[in-house]
Amino acid sequence: MAKVTKKPTTALYPVPAVMVSCGVGERANIITLAWVGTLCSKPPLVGIGVRPSRHSHGLIKEFGEFVINLPSAEQARWLDYCGIVSGRDEDKWAACGFTPAPAAKVQTPLIAECLVNIECRLQQTLSLGSHDLFIGEVAAVQMDEAVLDERGRLDFDKARPFAYSSGEYRRIGELLGTFGYSKKK
Ligand SMILES: Cc1cc2nc3c(=O)[nH]c(=O)nc-3n(C[C@H](O)[C@H](O)[C@H](O)COP(=O)(O)O)c2cc1C
Repeated sequence: MAKVTKKPTTALYPVPAVMVSCGVGERANIITLAWVGTLCSKPPLVGIGVRPSRHSHGLIKEFGEFVINLPSAEQARWLDYCGIVSGRDEDKWAACGFTPAPAAKVQTPLIAECLVNIECRLQQTLSLGSHDLFIGEVAAVQMDEAVLDERGRLDFDKARPFAYSSGEYRRIGELLGTFGYSKKK
């Protein structure tokens, strides 16, 4: 098959789209991020890429914490909103009807309406260029009971996740297999 060489961009798709809460008390804010990834299992580390110009950048640096809130499909509109409006100009909690709820291990509030919340303590910051990479160590994970199956595991269908790709938000659907299924008879 013929290939077309494109200019170098990160090009990965799809990627997660999440709402990260940051700051504390009256200064708590929400920012939408797609440059987000799992970095290490032990210790559990996640990375978020944030432009220094973002209001949230200063809050994460100042308080040394953030919470990754995973949205379900019904929240796509609010996720988009938190990615086009700045906390410098608006209270995004109020605009989206989100409730700041206490986290277990960090001072930064989590978004109560999101089904999964990953509480992180800032471990390292790397300046990479356009974005800074904030590496967070996971201090606690909250999961809404409504999203768990009878064995207490995350039920993907109940979580109704979506992903981001080339400017589009898309549902994640069909089950293709399970871990190790390629070798199972
Ligand atoms: C789908 C989507 C993904 C985004 N991903 C990132 C990202 O990974 N890093 C970043 O710095 N900004 C990203 N943004 C832009 C910020 O969310 C946006 O500039 C936001 O208004 C900043 O809010 P703040 O000024 O309150 O921090 C994204 C926006 C959208 C809509």
